[in-house]
Amino acid sequence: MKIEAKNLGFRYDGYPWLFRNVDLTIQPGEIVGLKAPSGYGKTSLCKILAGYEKPVEGEVLLNGEPINSKGFHPVQLIFQHPEKAVNPRWKMDKVLNEGWRPDQSLLDLLGIEKEWMTRWPNELSGGELQRFCVARALGPDTKFLIADEMTTMLDAITQAQIWHAVLEIVRERNMGMIVVSHEEKLVQRLCHRVINLDEITSRM
Ligand SMILES: Nc1ncnc2c1ncn2[C@@H]1O[C@H](COP(=O)(O)OP(=O)(O)OP(=O)(O)O)[C@@H](O)[C@H]1O
Ligand SMILES: [Mg+2]
Repeated sequence: MKIEAKNLGFRYDGYPWLFRNVDLTIQPGEIVGLKAPSGYGKTSLCKILAGYEKPVEGEVLLNGEPINSKGFHPVQLIFQHPEKAVNPRWKMDKVLNEGWRPDQSLLDLLGIEKEWMTRWPNELSGGELQRFCVARALGPDTKFLIADEMTTMLDAITQAQIWHAVLEIVRERNMGMIVVSHEEKLVQRLCHRVINLDEITSRM
């Protein structure tokens, strides 16, 4: 699905504008890097696109339509810190199957082991936990994926495994995707194009 941001503007209550007049369009199948210095509002923009925050100005459209705010959100966001994204009081099988039931082939692709299912989130490493967050985000109703520093905290092998799995699914389903990363090489390798948030916005 095509995602569009039209004239987006955002500020936290009582703070100056982070960005205004942001327009962007990402086509199905397009993988787009999002760059800007730290603190410029990349994560805030991602949260708006995925429905965690409401824009102060403008709107987000999927295939030309506003996103229905009820039920499963078709734009899924994967954060840098998986431990903040899961309920610490749920065992992993409940965390995993909250929104949909991933099949065994996806679990294998992501290297999720059966034995982890009966553990609590704090009994897994960051990389193991992030695999669950990725699986959870890739439900059949997901139309667009945002990876905000998805593998920044992980070692090279885990990074490569997770990216391999994500890209396989994204390509197979012709999904669009935004990649936020400070790792220039990763962005250059993965993305069809790169948007510089500091170049497409006015902060006044
Ligand atoms: N809930 C909040 N209330 C007030 N200010 C906030 C809130 N969340 C973030 N900010 C501020 O908004 C600005 C943008 O934050 P954001 O996390 O979007 O930046 P970022 O571009 O993702 O940075 P980084 O590259 O470090 O991840 C920062 O100055 C941050 O301190
Ligand atoms: Mg950020």
